[in-house]
Amino acid sequence: MRANPGGQLDPTEVIGRDQLIENLWHVLEQQSVLLTAERRIGKTQVIKKMVAEADAERLLTIYRDLEGVRTPLEFVEHVFYDVERYLSRKQKWATRTRNFLQEIAGSEIGEVVRFPDAAAPHWKRLLERTIEDLVTQQDRRVVFFWDEVPLMLHNLVQRGEGDAVAMEMLDVLRQLRQMHADLRMVFTGSIGLHNVITALRRAGYANDPTNDMRTIDVPPLRSAAAVDLALQLLEGENIVAAEVQATAETIARAVDQVPYYIHHIVSDLRFTDEPVTPDLVRTLVARRLRDPQDEWRMTHYRERVNTYYDDEEQPIVLAILDVLADEARSFAQLFNLVKTQVAVLDEEEERVRNLVRLLQRDHYIELGADDAYRFRFPLIRRWWRINRG
Ligand SMILES: Nc1ncnc2c1ncn2[C@@H]1O[C@H](COP(=O)(O)OP(=O)(O)OP(=O)(O)O)[C@@H](O)[C@H]1O
Ligand SMILES: [Mg+2]
Repeated sequence: MRANPGGQLDPTEVIGRDQLIENLWHVLEQQSVLLTAERRIGKTQVIKKMVAEADAERLLTIYRDLEGVRTPLEFVEHVFYDVERYLSRKQKWATRTRNFLQEIAGSEIGEVVRFPDAAAPHWKRLLERTIEDLVTQQDRRVVFFWDEVPLMLHNLVQRGEGDAVAMEMLDVLRQLRQMHADLRMVFTGSIGLHNVITALRRAGYANDPTNDMRTIDVPPLRSAAAVDLALQLLEGENIVAAEVQATAETIARAVDQVPYYIHHIVSDLRFTDEPVTPDLVRTLVARRLRDPQDEWRMTHYRERVNTYYDDEEQPIVLAILDVLADEARSFAQLFNLVKTQVAVLDEEEERVRNLVRLLQRDHYIELGADDAYRFRFPLIRRWWRINRG
């Protein structure tokens, strides 16, 4: 297998996800899924593999990347096209939706439907009808795999559609799940949905729009699968290493078993003239963490603090991360150390606890069995220390 960091993989090249995928299908028998994970862990490859390999006798699966969506109507258009593409293969149309569009447009709708501007205020009804058209015209379970849902909602808010539209969108999607027993949705994305919902709560949103969905975390690869991936990539790139097993194990461990970075390091090895050894692997990883071009986009971990935490929270969040980058700490120790770094009062303990909780949900930190908080990924911790040491 060739190194392809960040590229689209053939489903057969997606390594080490079989158990996770089996679990996901099992859960999808009952309910919809919120697939969470740190960025670049391999969520998109997981859901694309699921779509490619789904049991077509029983399931209709539809994948759609929503990153570029800027308005609710654009979202509905995507859903509509995906639905009609499927129905047209069976010589059917999304009749209710088409009739409704005709009413709005006041004229005949041709074969290829463009949504008229006048449809914008009716996006909710159009979405409802589109889903109805789909579920009534076939008898399999429908699973929409929607990638980058949180980014879409974030874009809606940023692009002036406002908080209210993002809230409505979440509520409508929930209603649709309640209404249609054979409809499932899988939401995922490179940012957490909780970030978007937290921001909406500040604007007065009180609903819990995903409490009917099961949250499932995509972890890094298991050690054996990560080593296997490294071995396959070394072979595919014709890289000769004296200690190939030890080299593969070092690659897997040095990047926390995250497949994206495994692809990168093998690709880096391909372009060096030095003999390939575990030491060279460690050198290359260290270089990547100091790369001024930052191809791994590690600065993202610093920048997103500004995006998702408000002005008062940011200095506290940075202090928490600085303290934990140094050493794992119990909450009491952490709180005391944070107080030495930023102006936090004793009364603000609850607030700090809350931020610690959010940082866990953001995958920055985790609570170990020893009740100490630490960085979840040693690689990110290293980058944090190098860049904020
Ligand atoms: N299971 C896997 N086996 C082999 N390589 C993988 C696997 N999963 C991911 N990769 C590699 O990691 C890259 C990123 O994967 P993917 O795009 O699925 O991550 P993501 O979690 O969706 O990222 P983002 O958070 O940016 O959306 C892929 O292009 C591929 O190079
Ligand atoms: Mg992705």
